[in-house]
This record gives sequence, C-alpha cells and structure tokens, in this order.
Amino acid sequence: GTTLASAAARSGRYFGVGVQGHKLSDPTYAGILDREFAVVTPENEMKLDATEPQQNRFTFTAADRVVGHAEQHGKQVRGHTLLWHAGQPSWLAALRGSALRQAMLNHVTGVMSYYKGRIHSWDVVNEAFADGTTGARRDSNFQRTGDDWIEAAFRTARAADPAAKLCYNDYNVENWAHAKTQAVYRMVRDFKSRGVPIDCVGLQSHFTTHHPVPADFTTTLRNFAALGVDVQLTELDVEGSGAAQADSYRRAVQACLAVSRCTGITVWGVRDSDSWRASATPLLFDGTGAKKPAYTAVLDAL
Ligand code: XIL
Repeated sequence: GTTLASAAARSGRYFGVGVQGHKLSDPTYAGILDREFAVVTPENEMKLDATEPQQNRFTFTAADRVVGHAEQHGKQVRGHTLLWHAGQPSWLAALRGSALRQAMLNHVTGVMSYYKGRIHSWDVVNEAFADGTTGARRDSNFQRTGDDWIEAAFRTARAADPAAKLCYNDYNVENWAHAKTQAVYRMVRDFKSRGVPIDCVGLQSHFTTHHPVPADFTTTLRNFAALGVDVQLTELDVEGSGAAQADSYRRAVQACLAVSRCTGITVWGVRDSDSWRASATPLLFDGTGAKKPAYTAVLDAL
C-alpha cells in the first residue's frame, strides 16, 4: 500500500521521522517507523552530551543503535546535531576562548569522521539565533568565541566528510517577516557569497496555536532556496487535533511541495505518546499507533 515515504518519493522527496533509540524495541513503534518513513533523525543520540561526554572520549553506542537500525532497513540518516547551545556536557560548558573553539571543532571532526559516508545531511549548527525582534545571534559559549564560529564549524565539517550535506537548522524561521528568519537568511546569503560551505537550511517547523503554519511559508522556503541551498522541514509537529490539525499539516506539506528545492519533510516523532510535547498531541499517529486525520491529510497532499 501507499505510505508517507512512497507518496513523498513520487515527487523525489523524502519523508522522515525523529527517532528515540530506546523505543526501537517497541514493535508497534518500529513497525510504523519501518513501514512509513525513509529517513531517520536521532532525536538525542548524536547531541554533544551523548557523543562526547568527556573531552575527546567519543561514545557512539546510543547513536549507533539508531544508525544501525536505519541502515538495516535501507533508510538514510539526518545527523542531528553537532553544535547546539543546549545539551552540552559540563566539561565543554566550562571552557572559554581558544580552548573552547578548538574543542568545538575537534567535536565536529570527531563525530563526522566516525560516521563518514553514512550520514546524508548533518545539522552542523542548531538554533544559533536569538528570538525576538533584534535578529541577533543567540548568546552562548560558542557565540562568545567570536561571530565566525558558525563559519569555522561549516568549513571544518566540509573537510571531515565532503559527501555529507551541511545544514543550518533553527525554529521560528518559518514566517518570512520574522526578524530571526531575516537574520538567518542574511547569514546564508553571506556564506554563499564568500564560498563558506553550506548546502541546506532546516526549518524545524514546530507549530502551535500561537505559532501556526504561516500564510507566507512558501515564500520563506522559496527565498532560502533562491540563495542556492536546499530547504527541509526538519522537526515538523503541529499542536492540536482533528480537522484543524489536519489542515495545518496539509498546508505545511503543500508549502514544501511548491518549492522544488524543498527536498524533504521530517516529523518529530512517531506517535503522539512519543512526542517531546506529548500533551500537544502533535503527530500523525495516536498513542495506539492508529493513523490520525492529520496522517490522511499529509498522504493526500503528497
Ligand atoms: C528534543 C527531543 O525531542 C527531546 O527528546 C529532548 O528531551 C529535548 O530535545 N529543537 C531541536 C531538537 O533541535 O533537538 C529538540 O529535540 C526539540 C527542539
């Protein structure tokens, strides 16, 4: 029968899902995952605290479980994420200046080298811009090493695994008029104009009643794509239920389909009960694993 993955593939796109390694032993969870999705993103297993809990002592046990499952089932992997202000081990959070910059780049090289050739796309940097109306960078230990930390990370990433697509990923960058969207756009434009390696922009797409799917979502995707990068919906979920939720999902999928360089969509979890914000019931399958109206809306839109 038709699945999300096969429906998306008809237009050359992928349909993916955020995965938690410890749930792979749940047969309902693994059954839906294996049937419906072509790409997996480890929700937490590749974050800094998971992969380098002590300096220069890399651990890939948890990430390997997700990557191994994906490879055994013929799925591709989005790597998430190399550098993030959150989820840092205490040794890293304690470093400053050039020691921190060096450790940061060593982390990029260490993780990407281990997985060289096996990761389709990497979220090299996650959530580096501030919310609000300033368009400023987010204050973080990485940011305090200098504005050029993001470009240094992308150059190091390209050298570590030249075949991997290198993405910048963020939330609240779906509305074109939003200051944060404009700031990320200017960074990507600057990178492209100076030859800093960047291949894709991930729009997390966590939608709520206060942050609905914007009417100008297609405009945002199209404008990023016009800079010469692919765009993807990387962590899609929509607070709500029933027909209203289904309609939001339909509009999000249609926005991607309207832009040729929007190459894929990932939903951030399998069932509502698996979600990082389960009380929002934001996913395509309910807690029993049954397809919701949102599932049908997505399938019909693809
Ligand atoms: C979330 C995971 O889904 C949770 O399991 C974890 O407790 C916290 O992180 N933006 C991101 C993701 O880029 O890494 C976050 O994932 C959700 C928000």
